[in-house]
Amino acid sequence: MRLDKLLSNMGYGSRKEMKKWLKSGAVTVDGKPVKDGKQQVNTEHQTVTVNGEEVHYREFIYLMMNKPQGVISATEDGLHETVIDLIDPDYHLFEPFPVGRLDKDTEGFMLLTNDGALAHDLLSPKKHVAKTYYAKVAGAVTQDDIEAFKNGVTLDDGYETKPGELVILHSGDTSEIELTITEGKFHQVKRMFQSVGKEVVFLKRLSMGPLELDPDLEPGEYRELSEEELLLLQNR
Ligand code: URA
Repeated sequence: MRLDKLLSNMGYGSRKEMKKWLKSGAVTVDGKPVKDGKQQVNTEHQTVTVNGEEVHYREFIYLMMNKPQGVISATEDGLHETVIDLIDPDYHLFEPFPVGRLDKDTEGFMLLTNDGALAHDLLSPKKHVAKTYYAKVAGAVTQDDIEAFKNGVTLDDGYETKPGELVILHSGDTSEIELTITEGKFHQVKRMFQSVGKEVVFLKRLSMGPLELDPDLEPGEYRELSEEELLLLQNR
């Protein structure tokens, strides 16, 4: 990659600003000042520094967020705050986007990345990536609902869902459940409960594929995936 492109990608400034840095001799490649931004560098084999500080180039970022309620899972929204608005502007250079959607009033696990291939893979219906949700449901959730979800239910538009695994944590005036599904139809969890005459009053995603929401992340907080988590995701 061109040296000036690498540095502007890493947030050191525009190409014009980079020219100034380069001219002043502040940029070195393998210890030697380089003034020509057009020079090609390979960060796997070469060490680039700016003002004596090593530049750690990377192409992709992977962030796990606990999406809060009231925030849209999109990169832009004319009206409402988005998950991208919640992350540090330093990350915006990488142009991350949310992998899949959560409703505005749903909270929980959200992966943000600029790795299009990985996102595509996770969202592909053929890959059957499991997603587990925690929900509060108005009214008593019963064994019949477990059976119904196990067999797949018919949504309001006639779509027959794949089997879902329902676990009742508490059944009462307001029930608490966990539901694992391998699809991602619009409002799927809410509509699955609708199909058995029940209403979801709170919804949170707990996991996606091999990754679980870090319990230390408060709604609105995020962190980079650990190396282990990334490997789990890549080697699914
Ligand atoms: N199912 C829903 O109904 N809403 C979500 O946000 C995610 C799954």
